[in-house]
Amino acid sequence: MLQKKKSRDSWGSRLGIIMAVAGSAIGLGNFLRFPAKAASNGGGAFMIPYFISFLLLGLPLMWIEWTLGRYGGGFEHGTAPGIFHSLWRKNRFIKYFGVIGIFGPLVIFIYYSYIESWTLAYSVFSLLGKYRGITDQATMQSFLGAFQGLEQNQYFSSIKPAYFFFLVTFILNITVIYYGIKGGIERLCKFALPLLLFFGVILLLRVCTLGAPDLAKPDWNVANGFGFLWNPDFSALKSARVWLEAAGQIFFTLSVGIGVILTYASYLSKADDVVLSGLTASSTNEFSEVILGASIIIPAAFVFFGPQQIQSIAKSGVFNLGFVTMPLIMNHLPFSVVFGFLWFFLLFLAGVTSSVSLAQPAVAFLEDEFDITRKRAVTIFGIVAFVLCQPAIFLLGRGVVDELDFWGGTFFLVIFATIETILFAWVFGMEEAWEEIHKGAQLRVPGIYKFIIKYVTPVFLFFILGMWFWQEWLPIIFLKNVPEANRPYVLATRIGLIVIFLVLAVLVKIAWRRKRSASGNTHERGKHVQV
Ligand code: PFF
Repeated sequence: MLQKKKSRDSWGSRLGIIMAVAGSAIGLGNFLRFPAKAASNGGGAFMIPYFISFLLLGLPLMWIEWTLGRYGGGFEHGTAPGIFHSLWRKNRFIKYFGVIGIFGPLVIFIYYSYIESWTLAYSVFSLLGKYRGITDQATMQSFLGAFQGLEQNQYFSSIKPAYFFFLVTFILNITVIYYGIKGGIERLCKFALPLLLFFGVILLLRVCTLGAPDLAKPDWNVANGFGFLWNPDFSALKSARVWLEAAGQIFFTLSVGIGVILTYASYLSKADDVVLSGLTASSTNEFSEVILGASIIIPAAFVFFGPQQIQSIAKSGVFNLGFVTMPLIMNHLPFSVVFGFLWFFLLFLAGVTSSVSLAQPAVAFLEDEFDITRKRAVTIFGIVAFVLCQPAIFLLGRGVVDELDFWGGTFFLVIFATIETILFAWVFGMEEAWEEIHKGAQLRVPGIYKFIIKYVTPVFLFFILGMWFWQEWLPIIFLKNVPEANRPYVLATRIGLIVIFLVLAVLVKIAWRRKRSASGNTHERGKHVQV
């Protein structure tokens, strides 16, 4: 069923690609970012915009990307420049918009792989009992700070341990991609995904049996911890910021709107189902986000710290719940070594199955558009990505990671999703798009989604963009919220990002020129090649 006609790589099985897409989706976003967003937005207030965003943005985009990816793969294109060009051949510029589909994942990869390496480090620290004796928030915070090289104390006197774990993580990522779609990514996900879900269930069961550990505060119990997340708060529907955060989380957690799913789906065959597969991958992600991701960290933190403090911890930084609060909670439990390890190794498995997906678009671009071998493409990617990771590591305290996350992990996601949706529903045309979605489908998408994809999703996206420009554009452009001392670094990061984007755009130009002259030559010899 899944054989390919040419030399492009392919998935080994249908389960394989579903696991790989779910593996990409299930990541640090599920277990660290989601609880932090939900808690800092008041728990239950977040969940309604979140689910609406899932139905109106996440799910449609998942189907759009699976369909467009499979369509582009038919033209031997695995990344957005080629896929967009195949959709709208008359437009000479559309391929440059597709650059975002390589740029975005690369930018996320730069910081994501570094954060992922912390989870590996903390897995080892848990086993070694390195943070075992720490019982208060401030000390655990400075343990993390020293590990990140932001300060020095009795725990760490340099960034070397962090750098060591980064190297291990980076090499692991490159090795997996080196072995390709079936031999590397699929094989990794088939083993890592079930394992992480298993770890998640164990942790969930442990949290459910926490009861109310502080006898003086019987209200701080698990049931109220769940209530904090699940009791709806309709007043939050009026807050634009909650909507923006919920929509942003949906994009990030599902890995949609950035080109990664396009690339994965480009290794499908024409007759492979995308409707049920896309739905299965999305549902698996949602299960692991709202059932596992939120039910571990939020109720556990609620029980030990109460409703007020949980919000302030979450607001103080995305990593504080995961790297400060969770280890403290573990230290309160019997078998803390085991539970600490399960938590951080779960994060590591979730991280690595996502970061390999972030690396694949750049590799696929080099392979498909420059006709080079995977080995060469992975080598080039490895060298470039390694260099680009350095500022994220050494300038972490200077706001570089936040800047990368804003552009790569937030802003361009919405821009790219908007372009994709318009291209799909309006340029390709909804009738044709609907037919394309259902090729080989084992399930029909409910008819209402024809309307949603054509009107609701784009309007929703424009609304989000409009709100952004209105509320946040000027402060962001003029670095209003960046501390004075960090401004030169943030500005340098911005310039660096522009340079990366331009280099990728030039590469697209060169690739197309080469293909055009190659197809011209072939034409002269009486053959027709479509690029
Ligand atoms: N979905 C991943 C997570 O939840 O951690 C992160 C991610 C992976 C975002 C791939 C975007 C992407 F293209």
